[in-house]
Amino acid sequence: MCGIVGYIGNSDAKEPLLSGLEKLEYRGYDSAGIALRNEQGTYVFKEQGRIATLRTSVDQDVMASVGIGHTRWATHGVPSKRNAHPHQSESGRFTLVHNGVIENADSLKQAYLVGVPFASDTDTEVIVQLIARLVEEDGLQTEEAVRQALSLMKGSYAIALLDEEDAETIFVAKNKSPLLIGVGEGVNVISSDAMAMLQVTDQFLEIEDGELVLVHRDAVTIKSPDGVIQERSPYQAELDASDIEKGMYDHFMLKEIDEQSIALRNIIQKYQHEDGETRLDSDIRTVVQESDRVYIVAAGTSYHAGLVGKQLMEKIAHKPVEVHIASEFVYNMPLLSKKPLFVFISQSGETADSRAVLVKVKELGHRTLTITNVPGSTLSREADFTLHTFAGPEIAVASTKAYTAQMAVLTLLAVDTARVSGIELDFDPLQELGIVANAIEALCSQKDVFEEIAKTYLMTTRNTFFIGRAVDYYVALEGALKLKEISYIQAEGFAGGELKHGTIALIEEGTPVIALTTQSHVNLNIRANVQEVVARGASPIILSMEGLEQPSDTFVLPRVHEWLAPLVAVVPLQLISYYAALHRGCDVDKPRNLAKSVTVE
Ligand code: F6R
Repeated sequence: MCGIVGYIGNSDAKEPLLSGLEKLEYRGYDSAGIALRNEQGTYVFKEQGRIATLRTSVDQDVMASVGIGHTRWATHGVPSKRNAHPHQSESGRFTLVHNGVIENADSLKQAYLVGVPFASDTDTEVIVQLIARLVEEDGLQTEEAVRQALSLMKGSYAIALLDEEDAETIFVAKNKSPLLIGVGEGVNVISSDAMAMLQVTDQFLEIEDGELVLVHRDAVTIKSPDGVIQERSPYQAELDASDIEKGMYDHFMLKEIDEQSIALRNIIQKYQHEDGETRLDSDIRTVVQESDRVYIVAAGTSYHAGLVGKQLMEKIAHKPVEVHIASEFVYNMPLLSKKPLFVFISQSGETADSRAVLVKVKELGHRTLTITNVPGSTLSREADFTLHTFAGPEIAVASTKAYTAQMAVLTLLAVDTARVSGIELDFDPLQELGIVANAIEALCSQKDVFEEIAKTYLMTTRNTFFIGRAVDYYVALEGALKLKEISYIQAEGFAGGELKHGTIALIEEGTPVIALTTQSHVNLNIRANVQEVVARGASPIILSMEGLEQPSDTFVLPRVHEWLAPLVAVVPLQLISYYAALHRGCDVDKPRNLAKSVTVE
């Protein structure tokens, strides 16, 4: 979490830093700050809250062509101005921003910084005070001090450092946290994510963990941990600036819900070969084929996509699949099969919990595949193979289009695996995904229906339940996550048959229960569960698939293949959550306590 930016060029650094931070706000938004460096010295501005608040506090008269900035999601120390970055050494000579967690911050403090007065409760301040101590007491040059500090630090970091005595350099390094260097003409920038600095350049250099980078106005020097200069060419970021603007929408979330049909059509186009068929890379085919069991590892919404993926892989390709929550898996590993294949699903490709598993299973020598929306991301670079979800940048913290795109790619993976195994299928994935894209468009053109449902049932309720059976249960989990994370209504998803084993005790007069029924073999069973909650006073909202509907249903979803029903059934749940949050006055795109990219374990 947290986003960092840096600028060294020939223009004023304020605007590129502030607008860069605005684009990185998805990575955390509880406090923010910038440091500006000019001939007079280093000026630090920081505030608790959003970049908009920071903007108002920055002194417009300070002109500087060098600067660094940070938007924070608190890990060590509460969200406050005092804990906001940048942090400075006691002498004021060094100024630093940091994304990540320094696990041995306390022991470094005890070993090297006894008696140093700290101005914050952050682990970050330990880094900057340590570098200062190595320079000011031990007499090292700044570059050497940074290198030595890095060798002492355990944990994850992306850092950018200013030295008051070197106006021409920003010192940059990373370990397990994302960071890119953007290169331009007479200007170079630093950013946690390419899209934040697109207004300056679309040419970016990747940095490897452990490298130290000296960013100057007209040169970038990358050095390996032992000081050897590394040659590297920039790549062009294939991002369209309009992808990261809201356009006519009030919120990114609504824009991204609408973009789901586009994302599916993109996937169809990108994975279709000249002969009209979808085929995956032959190496991916081979590893899937050779594996005796697939282990899907993911977090949050991506985990929910994984649950649907398991159904698809097992039903379509007859391949056994287990789905695991990344944060549990890494510390509580199950017995593995003889030839496991690990599939990581991650919108951002940066989720630290998933990466911890990736590192561990790679050490064990297992094959790995990442399904991600960000191909150059850490999980993508570190896995053996990547499948791209082509959903375009997802900015709203609540994931929507990435989820449907993940399920679409999992469908292609399942179909491809089935074909290679010689399984006869009466299912054309491209045609069926096309039907799904049309159905999503139809749903998005009826937003008023879902707004009305939200207004009728969710304006004052304390809690809401989502129920479903079979694959609808997994969509119920996702619907509940969407509602709770942006509206703060206590929402839970349950398997319909499990209610009577405890949860039904929570049903009171008027409790909203959203029931999904898209699977013919459990249609009557889930309806029986609805009757059980209605008998205890619940207000049911029934969303059924065309062909399974009954007159009392609240909304009938356009018919799609039952295997792909989750891609359609989730859309009303996303829209209901959006409107519930909107009308309850919540910050839809940036819900409290959350960040889009969760880069701490
Ligand atoms: C919820 C949401 C999160 C993410 C989770 C994993 O709307 O977005 O639950 O799904 O933090 O993130 P990725 O997919 O980037 O690994």
